[in-house]
Amino acid sequence: MTTIKDFHRRSIQDKEGFWGNEAKRIDWHKPFSKVLEYSKPPFAKWFVGGETNLCHNAVDRHLAERGEQKALVWISTEVDKEESYTYRQLHAEVQRVAAMMVSLGVGKGDRVIIYMPNTPEAVFAILACARIGAVHSVVFGGFAAASLAARIDDAKPALMVTSDGGSRMGKPVLYKALVDESIKLSQFPPKSVLVFRRGLDANMPVVAGRDVDWVELAGKHKGAQVPCAWLESNEPSYILYTSGTTGKPKGVQRDVGGHAVAMAASMEYIYCGGPGETIFTTSDIGWAVGHSYIIYAPLIAGMTSIIYEGVPIRPDPGVWWKIVQDHKVKVMFSAPTAIRVLKKSDISWLKKYDLSSLKHLFLAGEPLDEPTHAWISEGLGKPVIDHYWQTETGWPVLTAMPGVEQTPIKFGSPSFPAYGYDLKLLRESDSSEAGADEKAVVVIEPPLPPGCMSTLWNDDARFVKTYFSTIPGRVLYTTFDWGIRDKDGYYFILGRTDDVINVAGHRLGTREIEEAVNMHPGIAECAVVGVADQLKGQMPMAFAVVKDPAQVASPEGRMKLEGEIMKTVDKQLGAIGRPSRVFFVALLPKTRSGKVLRRSISALAEGRDPGDLTTIEDPASLEQIKTALKGASKGTP
Ligand code: PRX
Repeated sequence: MTTIKDFHRRSIQDKEGFWGNEAKRIDWHKPFSKVLEYSKPPFAKWFVGGETNLCHNAVDRHLAERGEQKALVWISTEVDKEESYTYRQLHAEVQRVAAMMVSLGVGKGDRVIIYMPNTPEAVFAILACARIGAVHSVVFGGFAAASLAARIDDAKPALMVTSDGGSRMGKPVLYKALVDESIKLSQFPPKSVLVFRRGLDANMPVVAGRDVDWVELAGKHKGAQVPCAWLESNEPSYILYTSGTTGKPKGVQRDVGGHAVAMAASMEYIYCGGPGETIFTTSDIGWAVGHSYIIYAPLIAGMTSIIYEGVPIRPDPGVWWKIVQDHKVKVMFSAPTAIRVLKKSDISWLKKYDLSSLKHLFLAGEPLDEPTHAWISEGLGKPVIDHYWQTETGWPVLTAMPGVEQTPIKFGSPSFPAYGYDLKLLRESDSSEAGADEKAVVVIEPPLPPGCMSTLWNDDARFVKTYFSTIPGRVLYTTFDWGIRDKDGYYFILGRTDDVINVAGHRLGTREIEEAVNMHPGIAECAVVGVADQLKGQMPMAFAVVKDPAQVASPEGRMKLEGEIMKTVDKQLGAIGRPSRVFFVALLPKTRSGKVLRRSISALAEGRDPGDLTTIEDPASLEQIKTALKGASKGTP
């Protein structure tokens, strides 16, 4: 048995040997001539000269051995449907959609924007693009028309694929109408829009000559056979836009071969998922987690992947655990925010179903606070693995790697650097390496390993400037995150370097204060933001969701709890981190992927415009912040 330390060391010291070996996990139509070409830092080329295809590796190559095994199970608690597709059926569906795309003029290298809810058709469209060598760009359904238009103008798609609608908490969300609006705003509209009708928008407008009905076109391509286009390993496979803080969206570009290899390796070493086993990733396909761990990694590994349309508490807070039981889920992947939502319900929901198939629960996307980590671990009685990564990396950067070595979990820590990442913690003051327990900037010595972004779409210069030029005089990838390594070598992520607040000359991560507030047993979750303060520069302000609303029903109750929380922060972090105020709200403003909109909250607290709110989960949450702040100006806690 190797240790993760040795494993990691080997991956850094002998990159070519390590990844050359991992590359055997996938099928190559033509073998590569060089594992790594790094003559133009920071641009890394993996498996140069090799030719492969993501769809071949995700679907076709499994047909002989597991053609009748389920590849995809779709569960929608929104429209109360369940469908499953074997690898053979998936193969047929993907070929049909590929033929439909070709008939609409889409070819290798063309971009296809997919704006669809979590449905099997979205997966078919994604894999169809991969099959013919078109570059997909999935845009999350929560983005409003202007954001979608910005992405259209950057990607200049030949085709857009959408649905009439989706559904959230039982309410229809109109996708196609929004696509129409975005196309009106865009300068580079696609020639065609392929529309899958789910019967969720009876009044869906149709633009003659541009809109194409999915079912009608599919009827003409029954039994179609479309061969896989063999792509050089470094050709683009997809673009995924990340919401930058300002300006135009950043199109994270992924390659083909490196991506396939990274996906396959991570499924074994990190997630412990193998052929024939079932994975349930609760993400939306519009996010990096959905791309990597609903679609590519599970299918490349020959697993059964569950794609879910719905929320964690509908019809009841046991719905996900019932899925685990009924489908014998072995690997589950979700987000801390979902667990915090579940934490508000009775713990008995975690005990109601037979979870014996479940080996690990993985959580990522945002900091996992210690109390939530402890609550879910104890509730499930399974290892819950906090792991840290980014859209840019496509797979975990910091994680436990139970497929390599079983290491104890520390609550609140995403464990250790994953193989392939030469991760460093640098002091902000002089870029020297930080010692144990010293807060520092998380950077990665390039080349980035296979599977990470290869560049920003159409913008090499921005790729270099944004990510590799922040440390003076050195070419290092910055994650924009603060981190710390404790004496035992465990890492902790303390929040974004760009979310830092400065209180009387002391730099504080809002994340650290949140962690402290969350230590109060009455708190389910909270957001802390920096608010301008005449005396101290900035002051932290907290917005907290309580477990028991009765506790804050009266002004006296609120005042008492506010005082207690301040004391908790004093105790956990020191008085410097004490929020100037703690407001109580029923929910926090978040994006649909669970990121708290701290900038919007702090803008409201400072009387500024809250900015772009197109990804907000529930606009009512902002109203609550406003009401809380208004109450404060009148002196009510
Ligand atoms: O700040 C880190 C936080 O989320 C950012 C990346 O978000 P995104 O591009 O949406 O990718 C999500 C893919 C999982 C990071 O820069 N983040 C992500 N995971 C964690 C985290 N912060 C703390 N702990 C984590 N486990």
